[in-house]
Amino acid sequence: MILVTGATGNVGGKVLSLLRADGHKVRALTRDPAKAAFDTGADLEVVAADLGRPETLPAALDGVQKVFLMSLGANKATHDAHLVAAARKAGVEHIVQLSTLGVEMAEDPKKNPLGHWHRVAEDALRESGVPWTILRPNGFMSMNLGWAASVKAEGVARGPLADVPEAIVDPRDIAEVAVRALTEEGHEGRVYELTGPQALTGREQLAVLGSLLGRDLRFETVPLAAHREMMLRHFSEETVNGVITTLEEAIEHGSELHGRLSPDVQRVLGRAPRSFATWAHDHLDFYRA
Ligand SMILES: NC(=O)c1ccc[n+]([C@@H]2O[C@H](COP(=O)([O-])OP(=O)(O)OC[C@H]3O[C@@H](n4cnc5c(N)ncnc54)[C@H](OP(=O)(O)O)[C@@H]3O)[C@@H](O)[C@H]2O)c1
Repeated sequence: MILVTGATGNVGGKVLSLLRADGHKVRALTRDPAKAAFDTGADLEVVAADLGRPETLPAALDGVQKVFLMSLGANKATHDAHLVAAARKAGVEHIVQLSTLGVEMAEDPKKNPLGHWHRVAEDALRESGVPWTILRPNGFMSMNLGWAASVKAEGVARGPLADVPEAIVDPRDIAEVAVRALTEEGHEGRVYELTGPQALTGREQLAVLGSLLGRDLRFETVPLAAHREMMLRHFSEETVNGVITTLEEAIEHGSELHGRLSPDVQRVLGRAPRSFATWAHDHLDFYRA
């Protein structure tokens, strides 16, 4: 049995679907099964649990051999530690953990809180004695769905980083690598850096979308203070402050790390990572006026 956290979400949802398509028995973890819209089937169990409430985790892990582990923002360190501790007690054989490429710049927690939360979460897993695989993706291509409303209405995308090249990655590639790590031999003790095939700035990503849509689109750089206000509508203050501090560092010092191209998607999947043009083509309806 494979437990999938974040099963109602972005990467976890894709991991769940791919595992089921491959014929694996899965248990989907969600805080609210009544809200979750899974396709029912004999291959699927749904469990109500909360990574912030460790008392809910032993039942979720009962009979589980492998876990796909994700958690969010400032909760990353504590939520992953809860799951890892419960998994160790339950005799889990392998955890595949979603981390971030930013861990590599996490030396100073004050300058990169986001990377630091993930590093603490990775350390808890490494020190647990449970066999592990760590996935360190770059920024997700799907973050650009945040541009959809303004692109549709005004032909404009707004963001704080117009000109920093980033090799952003398709979440479908992350999920495929996670599934390989969960279901094949040979991935234990490995750290995979997951990037796209090309480093593109925000302006260049928008140009790709514009050319597919046949529209002239404009990038408007948003000051970090305004970006912070926008984020506060969706995320906790602690998470937002961590993201903003990390962005300040990226703007000030450029981003050698986030522009880097990793061979790991190709190594694990035996094919090149999906390009931003492919991702944009497959999600174009979100941007059509
Ligand atoms: N976005 C990026 O550009 C980026 C870049 C690098 C790394 N990452 C990593 O990827 C993560 C985001 O992954 P994602 O996009 O796949 O996330 P996501 O799907 O947006 O996250 C939502 C999921 O989190 C679950 N969740 C939230 N709080 C929970 C809790 N207390 N207990 C159990 N489950 C909880 C939700 O489950 P229910 O609501 O069903 O309970 C839902 O399935 C980040 O946190 C970071 O670690 C992201």
